[in-house]
Amino acid sequence: MEKILITGGAGYIGSHTAVALYEAGYQPIIIDDFSNSEKSAVDGLKKITGKETPCYEGDCNDVFLMDKIFTENQLSGVIHFAAFKAVGESTQLPVKYYKNNINSLLVLLETMEKHGVENLVFSSSCTVYGQPDQLPVKESTPRKDAESPYGNTKKICEDILSDQVKSKARLSAIALRYFNPIGAHASSHIGELPIGVPSNLVPFVTQTGAGIRKELTVFGNDYDTPDGTCVRDYIHVMDLAEAHVRAITYLKDKKSPFYDWFNVGTGKGNTVLEVIETFEKVSGKPLTYTVGPRRPGDVVKVWADTEKINHELGWTARFSLEDALRDSWNWQLNLSGNSSS
Ligand code: WQD
Repeated sequence: MEKILITGGAGYIGSHTAVALYEAGYQPIIIDDFSNSEKSAVDGLKKITGKETPCYEGDCNDVFLMDKIFTENQLSGVIHFAAFKAVGESTQLPVKYYKNNINSLLVLLETMEKHGVENLVFSSSCTVYGQPDQLPVKESTPRKDAESPYGNTKKICEDILSDQVKSKARLSAIALRYFNPIGAHASSHIGELPIGVPSNLVPFVTQTGAGIRKELTVFGNDYDTPDGTCVRDYIHVMDLAEAHVRAITYLKDKKSPFYDWFNVGTGKGNTVLEVIETFEKVSGKPLTYTVGPRRPGDVVKVWADTEKINHELGWTARFSLEDALRDSWNWQLNLSGNSSS
């Protein structure tokens, strides 16, 4: 089985991508420092796949550890998730974000070059578009000044990939610009594990539904949108995982040097109130919420044009907002020790 290294592979998207890699006949290898993930995710992979996933505990910035992994494993490619990703925290601790998110990519690229591993899928974000002038947003839309140091690290990393490929290095790379990942594997053995109070909408909704949070605050309902609340493109994490498998497989046929980027979304936008409504439908529970002030830095509305990934990678999102919220809710119930069945 061809081996694919997943950096941050015990994380939310990384662990779901490991499942999708197994399903496509690959052997995932994980490196994770568990700074924003838990070892229970690796146990969850065993429950789903019946297989022990090789897992190196450590930091992608550790040159010696990365060299050891590449020496011990004949890798066909790498999917690079490992990064700090809390937008709010990044404005408080910019140096921590620039140092970790950028240096880990540089160490990875040097190690790949040294070991002759050419294929890389990079985890980027629609945050690079800021508030697009036109919607749905296309890959040809110029990137804007990032709203946060976190978003800027994604832009800088994309530029690093582009420059490395232009230098004729032996590299074939794809950046996947995620919209809003939500949901969990249908088994409820893996899912999102936010540390502390969730800053993202869906985990806050499910924790409110489970009684862990008293009520949800909707950050503003006076925007220029159908119901006044912000619009996002919420994509099921298993659809997102599948997009990574398509991308790494596509790269295997691409002669290096090669670089391109793709939006990964459903192509549909939903408001915050529509998320709440859909959650109430799938959970059968009313959700307690109040409307509060706008959150600084929020983009009003963004959703993906998915033509390019549909046609070039042959990938289309399969799951609906309802599917994703149902899987998020079942995961939350599993975490809280109940089950919906
Ligand atoms: C969605 C909507 C909020 C919480 C961020 C990052 C992005 C990516 C995904 C890393 C917004 C509203 C939220 C709450 C609310 N992260 N909301 N009450 O901001 O679109 O994207 O997370 O890759 O890079 O920017 O996602 O889930 O935080 O917010 O009303 O308690 O829900 O205002 O309109 P966002 P989000």
